[in-house]
Amino acid sequence: MTDKTGWWRSAAIYQVYIRSFADGNGDGVGDLAGVRARLDHLADLGIDAIWFTPWYPSPMDDGGYDVADFRDIEPLFGTLAEAEELIAEAHARDIRVIIDIVPNHCSDEHRWFQAALDAGPGSPERQRFWFRPGRGPDGSEPPNNWKSRFGGSAWTRVPDGEWYLHLYSSRQPDFNWDNPEIRTEFEDVLRFWFDRGVDGFRIDVADGLVKDPHLPDVDDGDETPFSDQEGLHEIYRSWRKIADSYGGERVLVGEMWLPDMSRAARYLRRDELHSAFNFDFLVCPWDAARFRDVVTRTLRAHDEVGAPAAWVLSNHDVTRHVTRYGREGDTGFSFANRLHELPVDRERGTRRARAAALLTLALPGGLYVYQGEELGLWEVLDIPDELRQDPVFARTRGADPGRDGCRVPIPWSGDEPPFGFGSGGAWLPQPASWRDYTAEAEAADPASMLSLYRDGLRIRRSLPAGSLEWLSLGEEVLAFRIGTGFTFALNFSAAPVPLPAGEVLLASGPVDGELPTDTAVWLRS
Ligand code: NOJ
Repeated sequence: MTDKTGWWRSAAIYQVYIRSFADGNGDGVGDLAGVRARLDHLADLGIDAIWFTPWYPSPMDDGGYDVADFRDIEPLFGTLAEAEELIAEAHARDIRVIIDIVPNHCSDEHRWFQAALDAGPGSPERQRFWFRPGRGPDGSEPPNNWKSRFGGSAWTRVPDGEWYLHLYSSRQPDFNWDNPEIRTEFEDVLRFWFDRGVDGFRIDVADGLVKDPHLPDVDDGDETPFSDQEGLHEIYRSWRKIADSYGGERVLVGEMWLPDMSRAARYLRRDELHSAFNFDFLVCPWDAARFRDVVTRTLRAHDEVGAPAAWVLSNHDVTRHVTRYGREGDTGFSFANRLHELPVDRERGTRRARAAALLTLALPGGLYVYQGEELGLWEVLDIPDELRQDPVFARTRGADPGRDGCRVPIPWSGDEPPFGFGSGGAWLPQPASWRDYTAEAEAADPASMLSLYRDGLRIRRSLPAGSLEWLSLGEEVLAFRIGTGFTFALNFSAAPVPLPAGEVLLASGPVDGELPTDTAVWLRS
């Protein structure tokens, strides 16, 4: 692998949600064999690294974010030996490998949680989690009023009468990070995978590990006692030392949905995490002023700590952005609002997604591409209830359809489902219209989303580096220059605007002397 110093500062990282990427053994579920067979798609796309969502043994209550063993591979996905081969094969193509680590919680099938259940109240085994007696005369009320982020209470009672904390599903008990054993364990897990060649970790719920030990009640929506606690910084400083003790620039990427970007940036100081997903960008509604504001705040907050921004439009937790941007009404994203009920104009969503891709690829810093985004896939809204698997659907009693719609298996080739995903069907149904959105069909079409991503990722490598300077081309045109010689413009207004001067390097749609609505352009100027 070529050694590019600071590679992570500008890396394009492709997110693989393994069970929906490609199925190598014909059981309808994606696996490592499937990924290995499709590595050339990723090499041709031109990405720098892959981030794999959790690949550990798991009962799959939360798509693998319920980990039963942090040092092995889920048998549905393959074996540890295959994972090692996959890492080597990616490296041979100059692609780095980042894996997910899930330190906030484990599966209820993890041996430590099973031991805690067996050992009973007051035992050291229970100190690895948050077990507490209940409230009320007979302890039948949860210890506090915290809500699970998947709906319902964050507490579940066990037969001996104690309750345990789970910020997610009841099958995902939270670890107690005040216990030094947990710290040692995860440091060892980091080394286990670094020793096997991984180039970094995406840290799940990175803001949530440390809790206020008094577990106080909260007012509605207040997350203070279980998010962004000061004690987290010390944990990440020790993780950073471990990462830095390995060669080849191993990286730590935080998943943090924090309301205040300058708080999030504190985790990106030089001795803590390398980068964090920019979710303010992801949730931003389709509006020039809002995007200008997010980009400005992001660059300022990151500059203060010397960290690169990491732009992201979609992932396995949110409505795909073709659908978000195509909505009538609120084009942003929120976990809380019932936006899934709004009508969608997919053609408009696609036009905007193309423009957003060029924006993301042009901004200073790194970026993420969620599998299928490069094909222009949309959220599948009509999955039958009985096939839905996300615990969010069951825990909200169907009020929230959950996240299955962005996790539908990828269409690779052919005219009929499962579109080359594998030989044994697909674990969630794919729309018949995806026949026009297979990787094979799009590779042959220079006007496809795939061609746009390939061209964008290739040209991006030779764009000038430098700081971003806003250009005033009107309130509803987002335009900036980077260094000397590169101009970006995106027209959010309802009417065409004059094309800025320069030679067109790439455009998200036809541009002929003018820049049409919802269209972005890259210019050498
Ligand atoms: C964030 C992950 O991205 C999501 O898929 C998961 O459900 C939660 N963390 C809990 O692990």
